[in-house]
Order: sequence, then C-alpha cells, then structure tokens
Amino acid sequence: MIKKNILLCVSGGIAVYKGAALTSKLTQAGFNVRVIMTKSAQEFVTPLTFQALSRQAVYTDTFAEKDPQVISHIDLAEWADLIVVAPATANVIGKIANGIADDMLTTTLLASTAPVWIAPAMNVHMYEHPAVRRNMEILKDYGYSFVEPNEGYLACGYVGKGRLAEPEEIVEKIKAALLGEAQKDLPLKGRKILVTAGPTKELIDPVRYLTNRSSGKMGYSIAEEASRLGAEVTLVSGPVSLPVPEKVNLVRVESAEEMYNAVIARFAEQDVVIKSAAVADYRPSTVFDQKLKKQESILTFTLEKTKDILKELGKMKTHQILVGFAAETNDVEVYAMKKLKEKNLDLIVANDVTETGAGFEGDTNIVTLLDSNGHRESLPILSKNKVAQKILEKVIELLKGR
Ligand code: PMT
Repeated sequence: MIKKNILLCVSGGIAVYKGAALTSKLTQAGFNVRVIMTKSAQEFVTPLTFQALSRQAVYTDTFAEKDPQVISHIDLAEWADLIVVAPATANVIGKIANGIADDMLTTTLLASTAPVWIAPAMNVHMYEHPAVRRNMEILKDYGYSFVEPNEGYLACGYVGKGRLAEPEEIVEKIKAALLGEAQKDLPLKGRKILVTAGPTKELIDPVRYLTNRSSGKMGYSIAEEASRLGAEVTLVSGPVSLPVPEKVNLVRVESAEEMYNAVIARFAEQDVVIKSAAVADYRPSTVFDQKLKKQESILTFTLEKTKDILKELGKMKTHQILVGFAAETNDVEVYAMKKLKEKNLDLIVANDVTETGAGFEGDTNIVTLLDSNGHRESLPILSKNKVAQKILEKVIELLKGR
C-alpha cells in the first residue's frame, strides 16, 4: 500500500506536547510524517523530540536550505497529501488568513494546494474573540477544514472551549479521510482471511502442560499486514502476549483441539487460510484431574496424536487458498514439499528453525516459498513484517489466478 504523507505544522502554545503525541500516533498508524515548527513552538518542546518520533529532520527555518537540489518549502508543500496545523495558535490562524508568509510554516502553507486541517488551541476568550472568529471564517471560505477544540480545563486556568482535540481523535479523523479513500484500491478488499498463530498448550494435569517456543510474532505480522491490505481478518491465536492488530477479529484458543474446532467452524466462509501456528502434534492421552505426585525415579505417561488441522482443511477445501508453514531442522525443502502435497496446499512457507535469525521468538525469519505450481522463492533474512508482506504478495497472485 502506498503510504500517505502528512505534514504536521506545529505552532507555539502549551499544547505542543500533544503535537508530539500526534506525531507518534500518526507514525504508528503507518503515515509518513514530516514536521514544521515555528520559533514559538520550539520554546515548549525541542525539534529533537519531533525528529525522534517522526524519524525525519524537522523544518524550522525557511532559509536553512540543506539540500541544494530542492527548495524546502516548495518541496514540502508538494510532498504533503494532507497538512495538519496542530496546535494552531490565534497568531498563526491570523497570519494564514491574511496571507502572511514570514516563516517556514506560513510560507509552506501558502505554497501548497494540499487540503489543510487546522486544530486550534488557545485560551477560551482568545478563541471567542471576533478577530479570531473572523480569521477562521476567512479560512473556511478558502476551503480549510477545522478540527474543533474540546471544552475543559485549559492550561491558563480557565475552563472552556480551547483545548486542542485529543491526538487519538485527530488520528481517527485523518485515517477515515485518507485511508477511507485508499481502501477502495486495497488488493485484499472484500477477501476473508483466517490466520493461525502462536503455540498450543496441552494439559498434563491442572498445573502442567506441553507447549513449544512459538511467540505468535510471525502469525500476528501476517494478520496485521492482511488487515492493512484490506482483508477481513480472523486471527485464531494460541496463548501469546502480543497486542491484537487493529481491526482484526481475535479468537483465543489454548489446545490443538480448540484450534481445530475454531478453524473448522470458520473455514467455509474464508477465501484464504494461513496456518503459521505451531500446533502440538501430540497431547497426553490422559489429563489428570489432580496434580501428579512425584514418582520414585521415572514418570511415564503416554501421548496420543492430535488432529492435523491443515490436513483436514486440505480435504475440505473448495475455493480456498491454503497456506501452510513447515518448521524444519534438516532437509527443509524436501519435507516442506512433502507437506505441500500431503496436505493439498497451494503454498508452503518453509523455515529452517535452527538457522540464526529464523523461526521461533525473534523478530526476523528466513523462509522459502514453494507453491503447488512448482514455483520457488528463497528470501533473505527479513523482519517478520516484511516476510508477511512477501507471503501476502504471493497469496494475491494466487487469488488472481483463480
Ligand atoms: O511464532 P513465532 O515465534 O514467530 O515463530 C514462527 C514459527 C516458527 C512458529 C513459524 O514460522 C512456523 O514455522 N510455523 C509452523 C510451525 C509448525 O508447527 O510447523 P510443522 O511443520 O510442525 O507443521 C506444518 C503445518 O501444519 C503448519 O502450518 C502447522 O500449523 C500445521 N499443523 C501442524 C500440526 C497439527 N496438528 N495441525 C496443523 O494444522
């Protein structure tokens, strides 16, 4: 997906600290963010804070031209998909309304044709002053939009209207405006994708269980990326401690049997199933009601096979694209190909879990993608997010071929 560019213009009031939070939230939401600060804004918070949060140099001076190839205020004006002035002081609102361009912020605004949103923050009497009201009316006539300030306790001690809208509120509005547009072209729009992630827990007795090293990171990255690409995502997750990606429907399970039931029940309605979970192949044949007592020397208990969820899906599949993982320690591609065929998959993601940077727990993986048409793509070490993107690119290609 092409990331949208937000130019955040910060003018000088106590609410500059909220501008920092806004920068952070916009970056986390996946926008490219660049920041202009006025001289007064820098009296409250340093440009370094905004630089660290946006991972971009902050613009403070029209004449500090670092790159001879461009004229910064024109370049920024053209780069922005949306300009947000937050906080916007009475002074900066007055300047923009009257075409004054005496610093980096106001000069860039005059040079841009991008939509501009103004989020005022000031004392309640300033906000109600006829001069400020008139300037805001002028800007509305020019086509500028306003993010209304909230009522409440103001830093000056008054209670009234003038508090900068909360950063979360501004981000939601921006997402609705910009991503709502972009959603129309998302490649997985209208598709239902079920992803499994994490380990399973197989009880031995009330205090003990068998599990494995899966952290869920690989599966959660796939779910997040699929959702970002417009899919309606169901994430069936074993016990992990990861934040749930936005807009993803989470179904929590513990055992392989619970995962089996959760996946099978939802399979018919899916377009794609991606099984990155590390499901237990065996579970104790008996789950003891009471805690097992210490034995003399050796404790013996038997294990029985769990149901192979993916194999079952392979038998049931009608129109679905079925993607499996293969966690191997030797002869990786040979075993992966065997699983691809035996489980009737469309694609298998093979990882050698003994390799440094691959497999369980870490933030990276090294995988080879093998599809049922005989195509093979070996990827270098990549972040799990990037691996997720690569898998989904392949899924999109397979969906097109249907
Ligand atoms: O969670 P992370 O810490 O990020 O680690 C990622 C990972 C190593 C768990 C992931 O990259 C991975 O390899 N997942 C598959 C792990 C696994 O169980 O592989 P397998 O080769 O044993 O199983 C093959 C496939 O059959 C898998 O898609 C598995 O989900 C599925 N399976 C296995 C057993 C079973 N009873 N039912 C299944 O559906």
